[in-house]
Amino acid sequence: MSQGASQEPEATLSQPFAERGAFEKAVQRNPHPEFKKVEASRPGWREDVEFNYTKTKSPEWKPGQGGNDNGESLNKEHIQIDPYEEGRPAVYNYKLLISGIIPRPIGFISTCSGDGRSTNLAPMSYFQVVNHDPPVFTVGFSGGLENAKDSLRNLTETKECVINIISEHFIEAANFTSITAPYGVSEWALTGLHPEPCSTVKASRVKESIFSVEGMLVQTHEFSSRADPGKKTGVLAIIEGTRFWVREDAINKEKNIIDPAVLRPMSRLGGIGYGRLVEGIEIPRPEWKEFLVSEDFQKLIQPKADGQ
Ligand SMILES: Cc1cc2nc3c(=O)[nH]c(=O)nc-3n(C[C@H](O)[C@H](O)[C@H](O)COP(=O)(O)O)c2cc1C
Repeated sequence: MSQGASQEPEATLSQPFAERGAFEKAVQRNPHPEFKKVEASRPGWREDVEFNYTKTKSPEWKPGQGGNDNGESLNKEHIQIDPYEEGRPAVYNYKLLISGIIPRPIGFISTCSGDGRSTNLAPMSYFQVVNHDPPVFTVGFSGGLENAKDSLRNLTETKECVINIISEHFIEAANFTSITAPYGVSEWALTGLHPEPCSTVKASRVKESIFSVEGMLVQTHEFSSRADPGKKTGVLAIIEGTRFWVREDAINKEKNIIDPAVLRPMSRLGGIGYGRLVEGIEIPRPEWKEFLVSEDFQKLIQPKADGQ
């Protein structure tokens, strides 16, 4: 339900709601039984940290040189994991993947229901931009279409959404929207975030967000479990961007570059972790022709062979 709307929210405790509770219990996402105690022992948020660029670790790196750690990583062994090995719960793969594929961008998805009575806001870190002409984004929703999360239900009903990027200045509120609120309960009101009207979709964008993209659903693809055949475990949504919104102070004159120092995006790590972007490096793209003039480089040019 939109913030301020007068109807009673239809707060139903649905099947997906119960399933999600069971999933969260199995994930054991929070590694700290007494989280507040652990948090109190940590240094405070560093307000003074400005995003800035440093040199890369090895500015004098040359082609053929490999890693920049003097071969240290080559002295370590790997272990092999079969995602479906005997006795390995599927949730282990979830925990492994969300802790290993980091940092992940977070799409903060705003949707509304087909009848316009219910809205939804939820963070999704199975999220990426995959094309620019047209602008295309992917979002992965856990669970099938039948027991769809509220955002996915709204997205398939209306074919519309807004993808907002989460910045440092509203990370707590954004995280709070992941609460398993019953369908019909507004996350806008629960968090105090502010809805702003959009141009090409009915859903609202998040006013606090520095960068938002209005989008239309292109296609969904449902995945089936390999561990539990027949069970639907996830839905990939492909979304085409139809309008961009960027805060004035974050964009250049040509309206083509967003300043990371203003955007200050938050990313998702494993468990209950988030990452801040506090430092960057820049490395020019190598130009084949530029390197080709060097004799040392020419010696590295070999046909592809096994193991290379
Ligand atoms: C940072 C973050 C990232 C998340 N990423 C995803 C995701 O990619 N896919 C997903 O299904 N749920 C994800 N979740 C969980 C949903 O946000 C959560 O289930 C939320 O209640 C969505 O449900 P709703 O659409 O029913 O409101 C994430 C939660 C957090 C805090």
